[in-house]
Amino acid sequence: MTNTISALILAAGKGTRMYSSRPKVLQTLLGEPMLLYVYKALEPVFGERIHTVVGFGADQVEAAFPQRRDNFVVQAEQLGTGHALQVAWDKVAGSGAEYCMVINGDTPLVTTEAVEKLISRAGRADLAFMSINPPDPAAFGRVVRDKDSLVKAIVEAKDYDLSVHGPVTGEVNAGIYLLRLDAVGPLLDGLRAENKSGEYYITDLVGLAVERGLKVEGVSCGADVNLMGINSPRELISAEQTLRRRIVDDFIDRGVMIHNPDTVIIGPDVSIEPGAEIFGHVEIYGRSEVKAGALLGSYTYIIDSTFAPGCEVRQFCHVEGAEVGPDCQVGPYARLRPGAVLRERSRVGNFVEMKKSELGAGSKASHLTYLGDAEVGPGANVGAGTITCNYDGKNKFRTIIGEGAFIGSNTALVAPVTVGRDALVAAGSTITKDIPDEWTAIARGKQTNLNRKMKKS
Ligand code: UD1
Ligand code: CA
Repeated sequence: MTNTISALILAAGKGTRMYSSRPKVLQTLLGEPMLLYVYKALEPVFGERIHTVVGFGADQVEAAFPQRRDNFVVQAEQLGTGHALQVAWDKVAGSGAEYCMVINGDTPLVTTEAVEKLISRAGRADLAFMSINPPDPAAFGRVVRDKDSLVKAIVEAKDYDLSVHGPVTGEVNAGIYLLRLDAVGPLLDGLRAENKSGEYYITDLVGLAVERGLKVEGVSCGADVNLMGINSPRELISAEQTLRRRIVDDFIDRGVMIHNPDTVIIGPDVSIEPGAEIFGHVEIYGRSEVKAGALLGSYTYIIDSTFAPGCEVRQFCHVEGAEVGPDCQVGPYARLRPGAVLRERSRVGNFVEMKKSELGAGSKASHLTYLGDAEVGPGANVGAGTITCNYDGKNKFRTIIGEGAFIGSNTALVAPVTVGRDALVAAGSTITKDIPDEWTAIARGKQTNLNRKMKKS
């Protein structure tokens, strides 16, 4: 049945209650935009058949998901969730599908299982929706049923009138709907903005469908907090905590040793192999990969980086876009910036910064060093306080350090420059010329000793 269902995400709203200039669906949880989580939950079921209604900050949403642009529909004025559906209708109905699942874009905790559950429990309903019984029904649309428990309508909290709609039951609308397109299409023109918000509500379709004698089904999911929409910073933070725990627990169950797990944050696209070990107060984001036998020390921030088996990142490191090879050692207090590559058994120590640079197998830069646009061969030693001077104010230049070279402490390597294989640079040198293989270079002021106790004549 699922290949005759397409999906539509409503993501055009501003998210006024977030107090942010960023569209709500781009607010992040664990470093990734809210909307990504909705795509992740829908993708296994709908594949490419997912349309998205964008509006407020549409450019920003398109920039965040360029590969999905073709399936965006722009709702220039945000006149309500029902209006969003009206705007997207032609695209949805023209896709050849029999049903469309419509989902609020501010529901990042939704799971593929929940989506499948609605499909399987909807039966042959013309309009089905998911309902929940949260601890606090707050601003959710309330589900109204008749004495036989049949759904009569969804009434928004603002418009709920006890004398008309009866006592509140606690059952509310989760914002996920399954619509049979042929049946629901004719109802769209019947939507009116005659309510407290002056908006066209998708939820009014329920009452309209009941009036027309269509088959309407409210699929109850009990107290499932995963279906709660996010409207405020507090709700976002609480959803983020739930997601964080879900991801960390999942890795622990699969055999990753995570110490002090309450303080570990792992993004949804991070992969970690069983047998890796992580200490608390660590954040790992983006497309990072941690292999079996890698060890990540505490107070470390990681994004888009890979860690090979046997490597060890000690405490207090900042690692972005880096590749740490097998059995390498990093830190404590190291900073690896994009393009930093550590080949096997190499070591980077405290207060060393690397950017677009490669450190060869077994090489070391143990203290107080900047390697930018540099290529260090295997078995080299980069002494304390070595700086590659890679930038002249306009352009960047490369530094090459050959296999087995020894760079003495407090050396400035003014790029472009090459230090040959097994060459030696004396401490305190400022190197501006290439050094041939196996030669020694010394480039510093000569020392003069003056006797402080010379007799005055
Ligand atoms: C909506 C439901 C409510 C339900 C709740 C569940 C309506 C009228 N109410 O309320 O019954 O309990 O979700 O979380 O639908 N959007 C657009 N275009 C618009 C307006 C909104 O695309 O013109 C998008 C928003 O970006 C958001 C989603 O629709 O992702 C829901 O809108 P929101 O304003 O958050 O609705 P709620 O008040 O939460
Ligand atoms: Ca909402």
